[in-house]
Amino acid sequence: MGSSDELKRAAAEAAMTYIEEGETIGIGTGSTVNFLIDALADSRMPIAGAVSSSEATTRRLKERNIEVIELNTAGDLSIYIDGADEATRHRQLIKGGGGALTREKIIAGASRKFVCIADESKLVGTLGAFPLPVEVIPMARSFVSRQMVGLGGQPAWREGVVTDNGNEIIDVHNLKITEPAKLEQTINNIPGVVTVGLFAMRGADVLLIAGKDGVKKI
Ligand code: A5P
Repeated sequence: MGSSDELKRAAAEAAMTYIEEGETIGIGTGSTVNFLIDALADSRMPIAGAVSSSEATTRRLKERNIEVIELNTAGDLSIYIDGADEATRHRQLIKGGGGALTREKIIAGASRKFVCIADESKLVGTLGAFPLPVEVIPMARSFVSRQMVGLGGQPAWREGVVTDNGNEIIDVHNLKITEPAKLEQTINNIPGVVTVGLFAMRGADVLLIAGKDGVKKI
């Protein structure tokens, strides 16, 4: 095993063992999850369908003839599988590099088990080297950015990006996140914030990290 793509594929294939026939599966967004969608389609495992975390994932699921089900119809899910931008050994995550953090957090919240898949480059000691994405209501962008400065970060507007929910994204640089759950709550409480890409209060239940020596379960 070597390249990043091979590692992502290995993590995605390892996640297949968590899926049971007949289930409705929550599916995340990103290049690692794309390998999962391919593995799922190639396996021809009969599943009830998938709840999608983004328009991009919905398109890919439909291309691979996997039925997409609305979360409102599906109810609670047994399993959600998604990637991450950073992950710790405590299974706390930064997500949202692909801009899909809000729907990802909703589906993670509605799922009994969250399996996170990633290559070993995503595993970190402390979260925050990856800029923390925050989805905001457009009129709150500058206000929320000032609050981020107050928290010690350097906000950058992801200019030109409109999320699937019609909102904007701020990427907050230079945060050393020593208390992820506390920071998640603090940022959640700022008016105008839709979602912060910290998945700490509800982190992953299983982290599958692919490296040169195989896939490790954390
Ligand atoms: C999407 O908004 C993100 O949360 C993704 O889960 C994350 O960016 C991982 O993407 P890759 O698998 O492409 O690294």
